[in-house]
Amino acid sequence: MKNFWEELRQQNKPFYVLAPMAGVTDVAFRQMCKKYGADVVYSEMASVNALKYAPKKTLEMLRSDKQDKPYVIQLFGSNPKYFQNAVKVISDVRSAEKHNIENYYTPNGIDINFGCPVPKVAKQKAGAELSKDLKLSREVIKVTINSTNLPVSIKIRAQVGEVDALKFLDNISDLDVKTVMIHGRTLSQMHSGPVNFELIKKARNYFKGVVIANGGVKDKKSSDELLEKSKADGIAIGQATFGRPWIFDEIKNNKLRIINYKQAFDIALRHAELADKYKGNIGIIEMRKHLCWYAKGFINASELRREFVRIESISDIKKIIKKFSVV
Ligand SMILES: Cc1cc2nc3c(=O)[nH]c(=O)nc-3n(C[C@H](O)[C@H](O)[C@H](O)COP(=O)(O)O)c2cc1C
Repeated sequence: MKNFWEELRQQNKPFYVLAPMAGVTDVAFRQMCKKYGADVVYSEMASVNALKYAPKKTLEMLRSDKQDKPYVIQLFGSNPKYFQNAVKVISDVRSAEKHNIENYYTPNGIDINFGCPVPKVAKQKAGAELSKDLKLSREVIKVTINSTNLPVSIKIRAQVGEVDALKFLDNISDLDVKTVMIHGRTLSQMHSGPVNFELIKKARNYFKGVVIANGGVKDKKSSDELLEKSKADGIAIGQATFGRPWIFDEIKNNKLRIINYKQAFDIALRHAELADKYKGNIGIIEMRKHLCWYAKGFINASELRREFVRIESISDIKKIIKKFSVV
């Protein structure tokens, strides 16, 4: 099986990844980020416990389309057997066909979440909580690698309790993990605050696979700083993509896109049309938060937000965009 990660590294220039984000990186948003230059896109995290039953809801959440490649599905959980089953389920289009889900394309890579701080996930000993248990973490990774021909990657934090990224990587140094994404913050920092560049750099020198640095990138300057200080092969962008899927283009082409109201909301509308196409009414309701993000920075942002949180259809969105384009 092709290891697209190694191909990216061999291009000898940094690459740019859409970080996995629950409730955000669905098929429509991934497609927008791909269109504006993301080199790799990640799914929202999916529960291996839920995938035991191959439910429609989870498979719908993981669906992609043929152009959205390379696409990595991220899994969370703590039971190695469930990982084995989950990999099988998501790698077989028949799992989706059973639910009449169209546009289900199998992923190009499988990722395991070792960084999620959410209590619901920690309670299952998954995400960051799992990374504290080195023995079980190792077992989960090993079983996943042995269950698939796809490249397996992991996403870890700079530090979780007693375990820092180096200790975590040392524990799995003999396993065939193709890529590690390091969110350069500790568990207690959650999703904000300074990023430990030095630790990522040490991990870069230690780990033989591809290293992706993550945390705090919001523009070309912060992206260059993260790359320069961490020496990573690529970077992943999370929160700075909210309402700005074009950030990849901005950073890669070193162009500050001066996006005016019309440009921003043309893009937002295209995003909404994709959400409608893939998810119907649920997609439109979920667009409310994205539209509020697109509104950020415009003079009428608070009025726009007040209207966007009530939209029910594409035509509602069009009416609001039109109404505010003339004030
Ligand atoms: C709303 C939200 C959802 C997230 N969901 C996930 C997830 O499903 N899996 C994961 O590994 N990280 C998740 N993260 C963490 C991001 O992938 C990323 O590591 C974090 O936001 C730091 O990057 P940033 O500073 O560029 O935002 C989430 C972050 C946010 C803000």
